[in-house]
Amino acid sequence: MVGLKPGLGPVVFVLCLLAAPLAAHAEALSAADVSLMAASCMNCHGPQGVSPGAMASIAGRTEPEIAQMLIAYRAGTIPGATVMTRIMKGFDDAEITALARYYAALPAGGAR
Ligand code: HEC
Repeated sequence: MVGLKPGLGPVVFVLCLLAAPLAAHAEALSAADVSLMAASCMNCHGPQGVSPGAMASIAGRTEPEIAQMLIAYRAGTIPGATVMTRIMKGFDDAEITALARYYAALPAGGAR
């Protein structure tokens, strides 16, 4: 666990346990469901998850990286987080997995 902040070890462990069954549930969400959910993020994070302004771009990060951030926001464990803590309360685990997969599959620099 070198390089992890103290206290994150158990969180990462639980996330690893969750990853496999969640992936199966995420398959159950239709592509239309997922793009509707993802559209709600784009006002802030830019079209296709590539932000033109100060907001973080979310496209093209890895699926586990995005999923871990979203789960941590929902759990309220990211210090200084504002809206994301509230927004993620509305998403279940399968939806978070699907969102992470959706944004991981988009090109980091935006579609050309
Ligand atoms: C109202 C604007 C808004 C909306 C809508 C929004 N976000 Fe965010 N997002 C933020 C802000 C602001 C942050 C910085 C953390 C904070 O203050 O909560 C952030 C941070 C993030 C991060 C971490 C980025 C990083 O590099 O640290 C991810 C991933 C993310 N959002 C994904 C999403 C997803 C997926 C959705 C749609 C379900 C979404 N966001 C909807 C405003 C928004």
